[in-house]
Amino acid sequence: MSWDEWIRGAEVEPSIYAGDFWRLGEQLEALLDAGARIFHIDVADGHFVDEITIGPIVIQSIARQVHEKGGVLDCHLMVAQPQRHLAHIRKAGGDSVTFHVEAEGEPAATVAQARGLGLGVGVAFNPETPVEQAASAAEGADLVLCMSIHPGLSGQDLMPEAFDRIAELRASLPADVSVQVDGGVHLETLAAVREAGADLLVSGSGIFWAEDPGAAYQELLATAVEAADMTTKGAR
Ligand code: DX5
Ligand code: ZN
Repeated sequence: MSWDEWIRGAEVEPSIYAGDFWRLGEQLEALLDAGARIFHIDVADGHFVDEITIGPIVIQSIARQVHEKGGVLDCHLMVAQPQRHLAHIRKAGGDSVTFHVEAEGEPAATVAQARGLGLGVGVAFNPETPVEQAASAAEGADLVLCMSIHPGLSGQDLMPEAFDRIAELRASLPADVSVQVDGGVHLETLAAVREAGADLLVSGSGIFWAEDPGAAYQELLATAVEAADMTTKGAR
């Protein structure tokens, strides 16, 4: 399935980093049954950020069941050397990779390597990085991820300056490149993030820390669909 086929306009992506790993399979099934299709997988190596999170082993253990139900695994690489990990992620069942412009390696080469492996590709950038740097590295990518927190942990508050950065990013990208936002996206912030120009709304604690993650996903998606569509991709 190509990236374009996954995206149905506004999408909410559950970030499994905020999940309960004792009950991960159960939570993923509930989210798939609730309609979630793009799952955000935070791979962090303890170098690019302090945290060590999840990687190919976890991707491999969930990929078959997620794929069978029509879901995809969108992997956010918070790693220092993204090119070292692409083949492992692909082999484990990852469907797309989003690497940081601040990481090592020439973005164009990383995009080309990921494409060569048949992966969807995104370029992410941190709150301190100029929007133009990310936009100009996005040649050939499917999405650009605007971090609305300092990467590392779930449960942080969205930085308000992200709204202007999302709008600036949307305005500087071609219409067929999606804008993804990650960090502090939940019921109180999601409509404003969507209205600033985001298509792909990542939510960790806003979904997994809720009593009923499936219901939380559906409420967030309904909010995203209702929010004014300021993007060029059109509402779902
Ligand atoms: C943190 C990760 C996020 C995280 C988001 O750096 O990239 O994907 O899970 O969690 P929330 O939605 O709780 O901010
Ligand atoms: Zn993430």
